[in-house]
Amino acid sequence: MTDTRIRLVEPAAEISEADVARLVHAFYGRVREDSVLGPVFEDRLAGRWDAHLDKMVDFWSSVARGTGRYQGKPHVAHRGMDLDEAIFARWLALFEATARDVCSPDGAAFFADRAQRIAESLMIGLGVGPKALRLPV
Ligand code: HEM
Repeated sequence: MTDTRIRLVEPAAEISEADVARLVHAFYGRVREDSVLGPVFEDRLAGRWDAHLDKMVDFWSSVARGTGRYQGKPHVAHRGMDLDEAIFARWLALFEATARDVCSPDGAAFFADRAQRIAESLMIGLGVGPKALRLPV
């Protein structure tokens, strides 16, 4: 019988706060320069980028290091942005490329794995892509 258990990439042994901060700042630096992603973020975050970066450091610190500092609701935050599969794919490609550039190989594999899972969950909840459940929101 096929083994259908989900395989998680385990957290890289040593992902430090400095690693998380470096990845988040490098990634959003590239996002802001991206011709497609940049304007989507700028529409929502003009004038409050610093708070967003702090929040995203907390988010990834919670994911990678179990610090529990992020307590928000990503599914709610992404409503009303009219996101489609292509923009998710672009976000993920940029995130993974940045992680490869600024993290250790194990760290990059870990962040890419979690980003893919969370993106899929967001897409399901937002009704985007082939797995969308089209749940009432
Ligand atoms: C299509 C790709 C994506 C776009 C364009 C996008 C855009 C945004 C924007 C503009 C915000 C700020 C919302 C606001 O404060 O008004 C935001 C927040 C956030 N995003 Fe994304 N996002 C994308 C994918 C993802 C993915 C894949 C993740 C996780 C791996 C993620 C995690 C978050 C989190 C944690 C927040 C903070 C939510 C809160 O306010 O608590 N996003 N995103």
